[in-house]
Amino acid sequence: MNSDYSAKTCRRREFLKSVAVLGTGWMVLRGGRLRGADAPSNKLNVALIGTWGRGEAHFGAISDENVVALCDVDENHLASAAAKFPKAKTYVDWRKCLDQKDLDAVICCTTDHTHAFVANWALNRDLHLYCEKPLANCVEEARVVRANYLKRKNKLATQVGTQRHAMENFNRVSELVRDGAIGKLSEVHVWGNRQIRRPGYLPAAGEPPKTLHYDLWIGPSPFHPYNPGYFSGGPGMNCLQWNMYWDFGSGQLGDMGSHTMDLAWNAIDAGLPTSAEAKGEPYNPEVTPVEMSATFEHPANDWRGPVTVSWYQGGAMPRSPREYVDLNKIDHGAMFKGDKGFLVADFNTRVLIPFGDTADLTYYKPRAAGETYPPVGHFQKQWTAACKGNLKTDCDIDYSGTLIEQMLLAHVAYRVGKKIEYDGAAGRVTNSDEANALLSRQYRPGWTLDG
Ligand SMILES: NC(=O)c1ccc[n+]([C@@H]2O[C@H](COP(=O)([O-])OP(=O)(O)OC[C@H]3O[C@@H](n4cnc5c(N)ncnc54)[C@H](O)[C@@H]3O)[C@@H](O)[C@H]2O)c1
Repeated sequence: MNSDYSAKTCRRREFLKSVAVLGTGWMVLRGGRLRGADAPSNKLNVALIGTWGRGEAHFGAISDENVVALCDVDENHLASAAAKFPKAKTYVDWRKCLDQKDLDAVICCTTDHTHAFVANWALNRDLHLYCEKPLANCVEEARVVRANYLKRKNKLATQVGTQRHAMENFNRVSELVRDGAIGKLSEVHVWGNRQIRRPGYLPAAGEPPKTLHYDLWIGPSPFHPYNPGYFSGGPGMNCLQWNMYWDFGSGQLGDMGSHTMDLAWNAIDAGLPTSAEAKGEPYNPEVTPVEMSATFEHPANDWRGPVTVSWYQGGAMPRSPREYVDLNKIDHGAMFKGDKGFLVADFNTRVLIPFGDTADLTYYKPRAAGETYPPVGHFQKQWTAACKGNLKTDCDIDYSGTLIEQMLLAHVAYRVGKKIEYDGAAGRVTNSDEANALLSRQYRPGWTLDG
């Protein structure tokens, strides 16, 4: 189901080659416009849904395209984006926005609890999609989006917003692991130490401003009364005001977990786990846990044996390989353990720690210049180029959807408090009915996940 590592590497190479040759083979976009790097009309018709905060981080990349639709539940945010893209039609309801007939591509920067909805609706309308992380808010959402993408992967380009993936260190970490610098890989530990503690949903506090369509903001989730606290964060950081609550997000597991697990995921070529086990602070039905750790078992693949992958958050940490290595100094990091040593990395840097009497590195040959994995380049533009070209991106919904399905499975294991066995092909837990019931979540009437 998941593309293997060499396919991904190859995909990167193909991508680079295709960028070089684009224009020699033009394709025709909706409305008869020519698609191809050199075509004068080679611009995507883009809809940006969620226009402020993280949405603004996409302004640069989409300024090279035709921004034809803007959608935000906050009319003030919408107005400020419309000032930048005055030709775009404006909407407060993303369902109406996606009805606009001339769209080619959609960027979704809304709250986490609406990502899978927007994603499915966009894919089902044959629209290319860039969706901010995390792609989904429960296991089932991740699976439905991935299935919809896989049906259309020969005609649509997708990218999930883990733009740190373009940092060169991701390639270097991957090469070291894959090329045997730590010997046979057995364990992977990934952690994030951001701690945002909330007691429960905020109490009702006044009426929403007239410019905020609060009912649309709540969208498919169970209703919670308005409180300005959900909207009090700075641009690009406001997600921290709502993403700890079960009905709006998945806490740091989905937030920084999407980025940090990507550092490991990129190196280990894993599909779905066969089991998940998690523990942490006591369960709060309103707020996702701050402190939690989870371990997943992954079968062997064609280049490595079976591995365990562990995720730690909110103060839980893996054991350091040596006292002089203080992993606590790394806020978000990954550690790979092999039979010849450890590799410790954050997003930008890496440290190799050969370990044991046989760890003389004779078994490891560094790559020659020209043999290292090619740079990803501009992450958002990789996607716009893919929409017009060979459809290949590094963080498509197959890759990133599998990653987040695993992460969200940790919440299920945490809630049932026992090791769950997972059948990834069927998307079912085989040893707990209670866990199966937690793979999905309830929606308000009138909202359709797969519409
Ligand atoms: N890739 C990254 O590094 C990165 C960084 C920050 C945020 N994010 C992600 O981006 C998303 C948005 O985060 P944020 O901090 O900008 O949040 P935010 O609360 O500021 O929301 C962003 C915008 O979306 C609008 N919005 C919310 N729900 C909407 C809906 N249903 N329909 C239309 N518009 C809606 C808001 O009014 C706001 O203008 C989150 O999912 C977050 O995880 C990613």
